[in-house]
Amino acid sequence: LNNRCFYFNELPSTNAFLLKHVNELASGDICIAEYQSAGRGRRGRSWVSPYGCHLYCSMYWKLEQGMAQASGLSLVVACSLVKVLQNFGIEDLGVKWPNDIYLNNKKLAGVLIEMSGQADSECHLVVGIGINISMSQSQGDKIDQAWSDLSANPSCPGKTELAIALQKQLHQDFSTFELQGLTAFLDRWQQVDVFLGKQVKLLMGDNQIDGICRGIDESGAILLETDEGIKTFVGGEISLRST
Ligand code: ATP
Ligand code: BTN
Repeated sequence: LNNRCFYFNELPSTNAFLLKHVNELASGDICIAEYQSAGRGRRGRSWVSPYGCHLYCSMYWKLEQGMAQASGLSLVVACSLVKVLQNFGIEDLGVKWPNDIYLNNKKLAGVLIEMSGQADSECHLVVGIGINISMSQSQGDKIDQAWSDLSANPSCPGKTELAIALQKQLHQDFSTFELQGLTAFLDRWQQVDVFLGKQVKLLMGDNQIDGICRGIDESGAILLETDEGIKTFVGGEISLRST
C-alpha cells in the first residue's frame, strides 16, 4: 500500500480536515491528530478528544457507485476495529448498532462516517474513528455515558501500532465490502453484537419502539421483533437502548 498519513498535533476534527481535501486524496489516506478542539460524534454531538493517549483517526475512501452502497459501512468499520483489537489480544469487545464499539459493556470507541458527492455517482467517504486508550478520570467526567479505555488491559497496543493495523484492516475490509457487500461481515457482527436477543427500545425523534433485537440484515438495517412481527429499521437518526 502506498497511502499517506496527515499527522497533526492539533486539529478541530480529523474528519473535517479530510472532508476539506477530498479531491486531493486517494482511498486509504489517513489523518491523525493528538488533540481535537471540536471532535464530532453523530447528530451534532461532540466527541471528547483530550490530549494524551487516544487515537483520533480518519480515513478517506472513494465509492465509485454512489451513496446507496454506503449504508451499512459503519458496521464494517466496527467489525474492522474489533478484529484489530482482538488480534492484539483484547477480549470482551462488543458492537452496538450502528456505530459503537464497547469494552466490558462500556463505550470504548465510536465511528462517524461523513460523505460528500452526488447520490448516484462518485462519492467521497470520510471514516472517523475515536478510540479511548488512556482516559483520566477528570477527562472522563466530561463524557455523559459509561465509557471504557484500554489502559488497564495488558494487551493495550501503542497508538502508532494501532493506527497502522487499523488502516490495513480497513483497507482490506472495504475492498471486500465493495465486492461482496455486508453479507461478508454478518457473522463477524453477530459474534459481538451486544444487543442480539435482548429487549431493546429504538428511539426515533419522539417515537419509541420496543422489541427484541434479532440482529441485522445484509443492508445493515436492524431487525426488531415487535408485537406486530419482525420490523427492519435503517440507520440515520435512530438510537438503540437497552430496556
Ligand atoms: P447512539 O446510540 O445514537 O449512537 P450514542 O450515545 O452512542 O448514541 P453518538 O452520537 O453515537 O451517541 O456518540 C456521541 C456520544 O458519545 C456523546 O454524546 C457522548 O455521550 C459519548 N462520548 C463522547 N466522547 C466520548 C469518548 N471519548 N468516549 C466514549 N464516549 C464518548
Ligand atoms: C460517535 O460515537 O458518535 C462517533 C465518534 C467519532 C469520533 C471520531 S474521532 C476522529 C474523527 N474525527 C471526528 O471529529 N470524529 C471522529
